[in-house]
Amino acid sequence: MLILCETRLSVVKNLGYFYTFFGFWLFLHLSVLFSKYMNTVVLGTQWGDEGKGKIVDLLAEQADYVVRYHGGNNAGHTVVIGKNKYFFHLIPSGVFHPQTVGIIGNGVILDLEVLTEELAKLQEAGIAILKKLIISPRCHLILPYHKALDVAYENARGTNKLGTTGRGIGPAYADKVSYNGIRVYELLNWDLFIEKFRFQAKIKNKILKTFSVEPIDIEASLEKYSTLREQIIPMVQETYPLLQRVIGNNKNIVFEGAHGIMLDNDWSPYPFCTGSNTIIGSVNTGAGVSIKSLDTIIGVVKAYLSRVGGGPIPTEIHDTLADTIREQGYEYGTTTGRPRRIGWLDLEAVKFATEINSINQLAITKLDILSGLKELKLCTGYKLKGKKISYSECGYRELEQLEPIYELLPGWDEPISTITEFHQLPTNCQNYLGFIEEYLKVPIKIVSVSPERNATIRI
Ligand code: GDP
Ligand code: IMO
Ligand code: MG
Repeated sequence: MLILCETRLSVVKNLGYFYTFFGFWLFLHLSVLFSKYMNTVVLGTQWGDEGKGKIVDLLAEQADYVVRYHGGNNAGHTVVIGKNKYFFHLIPSGVFHPQTVGIIGNGVILDLEVLTEELAKLQEAGIAILKKLIISPRCHLILPYHKALDVAYENARGTNKLGTTGRGIGPAYADKVSYNGIRVYELLNWDLFIEKFRFQAKIKNKILKTFSVEPIDIEASLEKYSTLREQIIPMVQETYPLLQRVIGNNKNIVFEGAHGIMLDNDWSPYPFCTGSNTIIGSVNTGAGVSIKSLDTIIGVVKAYLSRVGGGPIPTEIHDTLADTIREQGYEYGTTTGRPRRIGWLDLEAVKFATEINSINQLAITKLDILSGLKELKLCTGYKLKGKKISYSECGYRELEQLEPIYELLPGWDEPISTITEFHQLPTNCQNYLGFIEEYLKVPIKIVSVSPERNATIRI
């Protein structure tokens, strides 16, 4: 009798454990399923200027935080709201929404002159940016000698110029990894800044002299930085505890990638790249957030491609069609104003971008620019000396020499900038999107048909 009671008791107890465990499991899965809060990364899948700024602004409507985590003011992101056009170089593009706080993570390199100008412009536009921007003390600074060195190296390269933006990006990241960098941290500790700046500037001036370039005025620079630091210091705060606290705490975060995957410092045809890693891993290194915390990884794909600066583009268009697309798409650098080179959509390269970043959604931009073209080419692979070769197997020599394999699709005549539903798009336009989706095996969720914030089809 006693044994029977004990057995019953243990069954009841075990059932209790089972229901508690099952209830918890159900709660966890349902909360994930129904939660509208997501951590989203926006990545450019080509050579930059894919329209990341527009997509970030769009997604930031639902966001509590928008985070920049790599690069510097070589980035130029555009947001168009009605008749107004805004350019972002360092401040995250989503700060127009009243609730959205901007974070500049430790992986970003900062030119304080550009940052303070950008702050002033946003204040003029009525954004209370000083109250909603947080800057990591770990950010490295782009200092006057970095800009001078960037330009001096480019001039010395002569016809082998890389075509950098001249913003000091390479030299500043080089100083970071060689322990010669100076950070926002030193701006907080002014005596350390003065000591380190004088030491570095003297060495850099010697290097500049070998290029026959004017040295930088050390004392005048210190004077300038003593003023600039005062404007920045109130916004400086370690961002790690804040981001850790808000992740998984029903907050919505958008991470804003800069540049493009084909400009990654490791995964590009080096040295035709930028100084930072543009792939998703930079969210981890440049914001202190594990990539396991990221739910939606959006790859932004321009419906054709553009690039500023040197380096091979396998699908580059060399005839007058490039000029037509450049003018129609206003393809001029947001940072430097340089005309962008134009090419057909290179799905072989974009496929690499979707794979290496585990991209799970696509945003196609500038589809409107293709209206009126009789025939569209899509690159579906590369051939070198008669053999197939993948993007990841190519250095710049191979990318220069290879032959793209093209799929030809019929174009459409109708303008599409006012279309708001997928099914209203011309059939050939729908087919173009269908081909991209099918080739990349990633769903298209956003189609942008004009620079304006609202000119967007959600699928
Ligand atoms: P980002 O660096 O990726 O943010 O891109 P940029 O801002 O440098 O360049 C993209 C350009 O295309 C900007 O001028 C945008 O306003 C514009 N743009 C973005 N989406 C569209 C679109 O769907 N159609 C058109 N015509 N322009 C767009
Ligand atoms: P967004 O974020 C387009 C390119 C430069 C140059 C190379 C190296 O607006 O897409 P750098 O100054 O970084 O040392 O230059 O990288 N580049 C970009 N091209 N858009 C960008 O940013 C770029 N950022 C860097 O043109 O070829
Ligand atoms: Mg840009």
